Amino acid sequence: MSPNHPNHPNHPNHPNRDESTSNRPDRPVTVLSSMVDTERGLVSPEIFADEELYRLEQTRLFLRSWLFLAHESQLPRSGDFLTTFMGEDPVLVARQPDGSLRAMLNACRHRGMTVCRADLGNAKSFTCTYHGWSYDGSGRLINVPEHDTGYNGELDLEQWGLVAVARVETYKGLVFATFSPEAPPLVDYLGDMAWYLDCLVDRRAGGTEALGGMYKIRLRGNWKLAAEQFVGDNYHAGLTHASAFRAWSGPRDVTRAPEPGPAPAGRQFSSRLGHGTAGFYLEEAGAAAVRRGRGPDADLLARYHEQILPEVRNRLGVERAGGAASTAATIFPNCSYLANIFGSSSLGVWHPKGTDRFESWRIGLVDAAAPDEVKAATARMLHVWPVGLADADDGENWGGIAVNLRGPMVRRQAFNFQMGLGHERDDDPVYPGRIGPRWVGELPQRGFYQRWLEFMTSEGWPHLGLESPRQ
Ligand code: FES
Ligand code: FE
Repeated sequence: MSPNHPNHPNHPNHPNRDESTSNRPDRPVTVLSSMVDTERGLVSPEIFADEELYRLEQTRLFLRSWLFLAHESQLPRSGDFLTTFMGEDPVLVARQPDGSLRAMLNACRHRGMTVCRADLGNAKSFTCTYHGWSYDGSGRLINVPEHDTGYNGELDLEQWGLVAVARVETYKGLVFATFSPEAPPLVDYLGDMAWYLDCLVDRRAGGTEALGGMYKIRLRGNWKLAAEQFVGDNYHAGLTHASAFRAWSGPRDVTRAPEPGPAPAGRQFSSRLGHGTAGFYLEEAGAAAVRRGRGPDADLLARYHEQILPEVRNRLGVERAGGAASTAATIFPNCSYLANIFGSSSLGVWHPKGTDRFESWRIGLVDAAAPDEVKAATARMLHVWPVGLADADDGENWGGIAVNLRGPMVRRQAFNFQMGLGHERDDDPVYPGRIGPRWVGELPQRGFYQRWLEFMTSEGWPHLGLESPRQ
């Protein structure tokens, strides 16, 4: 293959080309490998604070991974578009006349200005606000001011369209993209995570739809702290969200927490591919205790769940339908969701904005076949949880960590990821993947950082040969 070919590793646009390491051949592998030791459950705080590692992460992780872009229902018609990010790269996603979705860099080819400055909408073309270059919905350059005079008609418009993102694929309504031609197909990338993800997106015929709008919140901290919390950290919930749980108990008596129900049975799942989830897997008898005291919308949603339970069982089996909702999950690296059959489900992305800043973008998700009153209640619940209460609690912790990581002594002390170490199993007869026996633990977090290390230290796309989904 010629080095001029975009798929050649030395081509300037190739996702595995890694200029940030070219002057420091020793740094990525030797230093990084000592920073993440998942066998002993130790992680260096430097991976959340070091500027060089952050730049390396942008190329080695975000130019290679499958990254969430949108829910299909956000772009139903030809010409519908939305803008988002893949890592720090701005991206424009647009529905094409043939029904396909196309993603392209939202950066003008003239000087790099943002071409589409709206969050979402419907448009036939996009005109850059700097000098007025215009692109059609597929990214083709269609108009250049002064083309015949200033450029003497010599500028080849075909050569200067918006840069296309290499691949866009969809899993049950969720649209992902990757810059890498070498990434496995999306379904293989999800691997054993898909079995768990179906609890969120495949409960009913017709799948899910996004509730209107998107929550966008700026937060202090490193994006990985949010991704690792959602991948498996139920440990924090009881204390960090204690006051939120009390507030959520409704207007009847905000000074008392909801009565505790039966101790939740639960487990953690860690995919060798970096994904993970941890949550309640309640016996049905526990459902009433969970919804008790959380207001009329929670009661309505719990009743809805009970009504559709036979259909969900039929589609997913009893293990995933009988009250089985993962409370939180992360699809490696930065797409996280909350699946909550007693409240609102939501899914979103942690967009990195530097070592100590990121943005949370989140959409609500609801069964497309649900009645309107359930959709309305789900949307209201989303204001309460997580957006109104939980995000503020978590943001306080992530921001506090970011401030402390400015201290060089703090950055020298390894963080502890040892909870449950050595007590996982790989041969659960029902649940795919590596399973931790309790709903609290740090197994998926270790799996997340192991996969992160593999992306960061691998010269090529870090294939494991394990990506086939378990049926
Ligand atoms: Fe877009 Fe100049 S930067 S037209
Ligand atoms: Fe939280």
